[in-house]
Formats: sequence, C-alpha cells, structure tokens
Amino acid sequence: MAVVIADPIEYRSYCLQYKEKGFSIGFVPTMGALHKGHLELVKRARRENDLCAVSIFVNPTQFDDQKDLNEYPDHFDDDLKKLESFDIDCVFAPYPSAMYPRDYNFRVTESQLSKKLCGQYRIGHFDGVLSVVLKLLNLSQADRAYFGEKDYQQYLLIKDMVEAFFLNTEIVPVGIIREESGLAMSSRNQRLSTNGLTKAARLYFHLNESVRNNSSAKEVIQNLLGEGFEVQYVEDFENRRFAAVFLEGVRLIDNVSL
Ligand code: PAF
Repeated sequence: MAVVIADPIEYRSYCLQYKEKGFSIGFVPTMGALHKGHLELVKRARRENDLCAVSIFVNPTQFDDQKDLNEYPDHFDDDLKKLESFDIDCVFAPYPSAMYPRDYNFRVTESQLSKKLCGQYRIGHFDGVLSVVLKLLNLSQADRAYFGEKDYQQYLLIKDMVEAFFLNTEIVPVGIIREESGLAMSSRNQRLSTNGLTKAARLYFHLNESVRNNSSAKEVIQNLLGEGFEVQYVEDFENRRFAAVFLEGVRLIDNVSL
C-alpha cells in the first residue's frame, strides 16, 4: 500500500531518506484521471527504480483557460485504486497553496520552443508546466522521471530545462499508448460522447495516412476540416508532425514521427 503525502516538505524528506540509503528514485508526475497511458509510465518507473513515486496534482498555472481547469476530471479515489496493483511506494498529492507558497511570483520561462506549436495558442501554458515540473523534480530528487510522448513538445521542453538547470534527473520518454481505434489515450477523452470517441480516432488516422502517403500537413488540415474537426494547427517540427484540434469543445493533440 502506497503512502499518500500532501505536504511538499514531508514528501521531500520521505524521498531524501531513501536517496541517502542509496535507493534510485523513479518519478511519474500526473494530473490524475489516470488512464492506461499513465499506467505505462508507472510500470516503467516501477521496473527501473528501487523507489517509485507518482504525483497527482492538477496544476492551475498551466491552464490558460479557467473553464478547462474547472472541467478537468477529478477522480482521486479511483486513481489511488488504479495505482494499487502497481506496487508503487508513494503518492504525492499536494494542494495548490502548498505548491505555490509565493503565489506564482517565481516561474520558469522558456523563450523559444514554448512559443511554437501548442505554445502559440496556450499562452503561458508551458511556463506553468516547467515551473511545476521543476518543483516536483526538486522535491522528488528523482533519478529518472517519465513523460508520455503524446505531449511531445512538453517532453522536449522538460528535457531541455533539466539540461539548462543542471538537474540530476534523466527524463525518460515513453511511447504513446493508443486505443484500438488509434486514438491517443488522454484524460480529456472522458469528455467526449460515444460518437465523439469514434470520430476522434480520425485524427491519428489522417496523421498516419499522411506519413504513409508522403502528403503534407496542409492536406491533413483539409481532411480534418472536411470531417468537421475544428483545426488549431497541423505542423511539422524536428521530423515529427504535430496536430491540435477541437472536437465537441474538447482539445485533442497528437503527433507522429515523419
Ligand atoms: O503531462 C501532464 O500531465 C502535466 O503537464 C504534468 C507533467 C504532470 C505537469 O503538471
């Protein structure tokens, strides 16, 4: 049974005592509403480290839209149940006031990649992500931290931040876990209707087809618009094709290797 800790300082002491005994620490940061994608990260962290910690914290500073924050699914008890069979050691579940004791006066800002792709549309989003991840990595003293490739831009930014600030954590990317339909698993999928779930799989279908047929990002946009998606962007960056769309008011992202 995992120990559940809410207080950041207590969590840091907990991790530190194992660190001092020579344990390696694997850490999986999440915002809860856990799905198979998260659980894959947890499996890896469990397998590759002596101590395995998972955080559940809906980070308010990374939401550019208050409505999106309010609607973010909260299934804390369910999440704890899902984690039970993974033999993890600790769940860190802090309150926002504890994670931001000085409000949001101190933050990490990245000035290049965070302004591209999703960053063009979600102003301040990556500052919020980087700020909270820096706090979480500092508290966890993690040897390895695990991030899903669905949020590939986030993974790149965190990897670069760790290098820029000389942090002692290896950032481990884990491939996208998909539904049978091809839809990338995401906590936001829970907000789609049954029809929406079927239709959402077309995002991956078109991305995948475009790679197979060597067609352009523009053609993917045309296909998605034709099927009634509201397209925010489809763009190529560093040998990947990234997309963000809205369906039934839910923002979905995906990416494929080119
Ligand atoms: O990917 C997420 O769920 C979040 O952005 C993260 C990394 C847990 C930071 O809040």
